Amino acid sequence: MTEKLLGSFKKPFDVAIIGASGGLGEALVNKLLTQETVSHVFRCSRYMPKTALIRSSWVELDIENEETVIAAAKNIQQKTKNLNLIVLATGLLHTKDKVQPEKTWKNLEIENLIKILQVNTVGPALVAKHFLNLLPKGRKTLFAALSARVGSIEDNKLGGWYSYRCAKAALNMLIKTISIELSRKNPDAIAITLHPGTVDTNLSKPFQNGVPIQTLFTPEYSAIKLLGVINTVTTADTGRLFAWDGSRIPF
Ligand SMILES: NC(=O)c1ccc[n+]([C@@H]2O[C@H](COP(=O)([O-])OP(=O)(O)OC[C@H]3O[C@@H](n4cnc5c(N)ncnc54)[C@H](OP(=O)(O)O)[C@@H]3O)[C@@H](O)[C@H]2O)c1
Repeated sequence: MTEKLLGSFKKPFDVAIIGASGGLGEALVNKLLTQETVSHVFRCSRYMPKTALIRSSWVELDIENEETVIAAAKNIQQKTKNLNLIVLATGLLHTKDKVQPEKTWKNLEIENLIKILQVNTVGPALVAKHFLNLLPKGRKTLFAALSARVGSIEDNKLGGWYSYRCAKAALNMLIKTISIELSRKNPDAIAITLHPGTVDTNLSKPFQNGVPIQTLFTPEYSAIKLLGVINTVTTADTGRLFAWDGSRIPF
């Protein structure tokens, strides 16, 4: 039998996953579609997925292009008044050619810094700007952005990865600040950031050497854990950064 994961939400309800084409985004979509309480999943991504899935539809969205974010939000708003969960699963750590996490400040490059901030911070800000008012009032609703433990300033013991750390720290502040305004405008709505663990996806592939196998999660395992955290948190937790196991990570 399929484990029930989202019992704290008023059922049935719809979900939007932004970055549905990524390792974690895809795993979240698949897991959500096993839940009877979820009526529809909007799979938001830049490119059309190769496979169609039941109870879901594709919505074009490039987080680097505000016009597409606006169009995606309008499109979803026309289709549902019941969007109780939005998960932002986009992110960038490296590209095949140019962008690599910096080992030293000597590697800092304007173009790479801007690119990493654009995808990890500016894009999520645009999504929040146009999607937050889609969350209905009077019931538990939640906006979660996938962040990373390395964005915690207090937790930074190793250094390196300058632009990614900065971008995720800024993302944490963005969501914290949003959570304050959101609780005034929509008191039952929650906004949090989440650390998924080290997960076997394209993002982590080049950096998996030395990661003990038991701490390298499959996307499916991480998705189940993240949905567990999403289910457990309440309005008292809004604005916070949580790890996959529900523990709170300091900023
Ligand atoms: N994997 C880990 O170990 C790990 C650890 C800590 C935190 N995280 C965080 O978890 C999140 C998901 O990462 P992942 O591991 O699933 O990485 P991934 O497989 O590389 O997926 C990244 C996603 O971001 C999307 N994206 C990038 N630029 C975009 C844009 N301009 N517009 C729309 N979508 C865009 C990608 O879309 P395309 O398919 O179109 O490129 C893809 O869907 C990220 O925020 C990451 O920082 C991951």
